Amino acid sequence: MQDWAKRGVMYQIYPRSYQDSNGDGIGDLKGITSRLDYLADLGVDIIWFSPIFSSPNYDNGYDISDYRNIMQEMGTMADFDELLSEAHKRNIKVLLDVVLNHTSSEHEWFKQSKSSTDNPYRDYYFWKPEKDGAPPNNWISIFEGSVWEKDDITDEYYLHYFVKQQPDLNWENPKVREELVAALRFWLDKGVDGFRLDVIPLISKNIDFPDSDSQNIGHLITTHYANGPRLHEYLHFLHDRVWKDYNCFTVGEGVGVPIDEIKNYVSADRKELDTIYHFAHFEVDTGTGGKFDCIPVDYEKFISIFYAWDQALGDDGWGIVYLGNHDLGRMTSRFGSKKYVAESAKLLNSIILTMRGTPIIYMGDEIGMTNNQYSDITEFNDVQTLNSYKVHIYQGGTVDDFIEAANIQSRDHARTPMPWTDETHGGFTAGTPWLALNPQKSTINVRQQLQDDHSVYHFVKALIRLRKENEALAIGQIRPILDTPPRVMQFIRVHGEERLWVIHNLSDESVEVQSELLNENAELLLSNQEIMNDADSLYCKPWQTAIFKI
Ligand code: GLC
Ligand code: CA
Repeated sequence: MQDWAKRGVMYQIYPRSYQDSNGDGIGDLKGITSRLDYLADLGVDIIWFSPIFSSPNYDNGYDISDYRNIMQEMGTMADFDELLSEAHKRNIKVLLDVVLNHTSSEHEWFKQSKSSTDNPYRDYYFWKPEKDGAPPNNWISIFEGSVWEKDDITDEYYLHYFVKQQPDLNWENPKVREELVAALRFWLDKGVDGFRLDVIPLISKNIDFPDSDSQNIGHLITTHYANGPRLHEYLHFLHDRVWKDYNCFTVGEGVGVPIDEIKNYVSADRKELDTIYHFAHFEVDTGTGGKFDCIPVDYEKFISIFYAWDQALGDDGWGIVYLGNHDLGRMTSRFGSKKYVAESAKLLNSIILTMRGTPIIYMGDEIGMTNNQYSDITEFNDVQTLNSYKVHIYQGGTVDDFIEAANIQSRDHARTPMPWTDETHGGFTAGTPWLALNPQKSTINVRQQLQDDHSVYHFVKALIRLRKENEALAIGQIRPILDTPPRVMQFIRVHGEERLWVIHNLSDESVEVQSELLNENAELLLSNQEIMNDADSLYCKPWQTAIFKI
């Protein structure tokens, strides 16, 4: 794995929502280019862009209709070339988000594929006849409903793990694999620095398509969809045919990857992926009913999950540390405090930037954005939220219960446009934004944060600088301190002689933390609040985060 990828601070942009340059209400490539100075100033080294390829946008770009073209709303290939070269001028690397598990139903391959049973593209996807008057098996789509959709032209069903406009590609077919290799090489040859690989553990299917004992989505993903029989063969194939020829960075989205499997994806000797990110810490506030079954955060579990995955990777694998992305509610609303909003936002950013692994900051989290408050289902845009709502009502649930859960979990919270200023549309667009801005823009926006030395933004910037100045923070091992008060996460980062002591108080309470480390000439490097201590104890304030050199 490249050293720049290990040490780099990554930042995810959801392009539709970053900056609109032409007043059509949709963020675009030119808009992003105009914000590169902001990102360079923050200290970002690598940007991951959610998909910018041609797409009819049934799932905002995660339904690609042409792997080698730019989505019309995003701009042109020339705009992309300019964005790439301007990013590189600022020493910022660019990762594209590519979806290899499925295409759009409007991709030329699928149009051909569905046209007749003997079309040469038929086997680019999975087609099956009905079984006893019903779909070929009982699997449920991750976005609700059967994974099988019947197409009238040939009267057969095709497979789609997500919405029906996202048919799954048949990786068993060598032609499919060659097409994808060519598309990946096309972007790398242009100078792109790597990829975030959407739902990559799902690409190999159990082609017997057996019925499942349970239709629980978590069960389906771990038992039937992820880690399929030929998965590692395919990942190795990608390494061999693409990655190894470039100085690139590959980040897999680790859907359904159990902790004891992670090494098989990322250990250097496997020659598969550089790293993948898991979702284990997002299970600490959901029940067995899935994403919209919300329960209070279990912080002890939250903390132990970070340590467990770090240990599972050990020293011959490399992880990712993140707390938010375009599929999740805002981290500050989910894991932070209602009472100490800004301090908890700083602490959560501090977790991201003090753990081992490449940190990813999701756009807007560097200014401490929180969830929107929606009161009506018509205000939501996200296809997952809307589909889950239909199922919830169908199963006898109430509207109010659903809105309450969606106000924590809907993907829309992370997708509201970036508030650059407190103006009507937050300086995001001169037109009408495709998704309304979060009204909090009047108090939380980039302009205000840049002016306030104590803002979340300035704290994150200081954390990034610290990470670059201290080897132990960037690449050091983690030694957890387990003898610690409840909801206080403490660990030591070690690299050679260098040792840093990190403390995060994830609670609304002040806590006394007794520690011998205070006697070891502990030197404070950074904290979000004033430090109070005596010779044996540190008196942590609510949501205090602190880093000491020892
Ligand atoms: C991934 C993406 C998500 C998308 C899904 C289907 O989980 O992050 O946004 O909807 O894959 O491509
Ligand atoms: Ca635009």
